[in-house]
Amino acid sequence: MNKYSGLAKSVVINPKNYKLIQYDASLTLIGVGRSAYVFKIKNTNQALKVFFPSHQYLAKVEADVYKSIQHIGYFPTLYDFGPHYLVIDFVDGYTLFECLTRGIPISESNINEVDIAIQLARKEGLNPSDIHLRNIIIHNGKIKMIDVARFKQIETDKQWLDLKNTFYRLYSKKYFPKKIPAFILNWIAFLYKRLNRRSAIQIK
Ligand SMILES: Nc1ncnc2c1ncn2[C@@H]1O[C@H](COP(=O)(O)OP(=O)(O)OP(=O)(O)O)[C@@H](O)[C@H]1O
Ligand SMILES: [Mg+2]
Repeated sequence: MNKYSGLAKSVVINPKNYKLIQYDASLTLIGVGRSAYVFKIKNTNQALKVFFPSHQYLAKVEADVYKSIQHIGYFPTLYDFGPHYLVIDFVDGYTLFECLTRGIPISESNINEVDIAIQLARKEGLNPSDIHLRNIIIHNGKIKMIDVARFKQIETDKQWLDLKNTFYRLYSKKYFPKKIPAFILNWIAFLYKRLNRRSAIQIK
């Protein structure tokens, strides 16, 4: 068993309610999404993503996507993967969601970088999807995109287009507040999801 699979095995998730039960002392919990818990591996610059029991199949899907975009600097390096985990670069920065809640400015060049990353991924035959505020991290003023599992989905989603429009129509305007409470962002995201209900993810 390699070091990473041992660490991934130490992560115990309740299959019924997805609550995190335990994990190795060399891991620090840094995030959770709809399909996984993410940890920083202490004393390294690596992040370990461990999928919920019901979403383990996404580890291979996401690893395959990362493999095809390793030459694009806007995505983290993939170091290892297994049946239910991935090891990628730990991106030391703030997600766009955190930038908004903390009042850290998001620039037009950050928006352009996301567009370039999307175009480059499209050249690899992917369909970049599920691009939302928590999946983009600003690191040293430049963006990194994480959570690429849904880049193989068939359905086209317009989340990024809507976010970009909101940036130009509202955020970039002088009068628009640059710091927004998390509960308001979560409320907008909830309404957005209700209005744009997506069918189950279909993978190519
Ligand atoms: N490599 C990383 N470096 C730093 N933070 C990370 C990294 N990967 C994930 N995170 C943090 O963990 C959170 C959850 O990770 P991720 O988006 O990969 O999980 P998910 O379950 O696939 O999410 P989603 O709900 O968007 O499908 C991210 O929003 C981010 O805050
Ligand atoms: Mg995510």
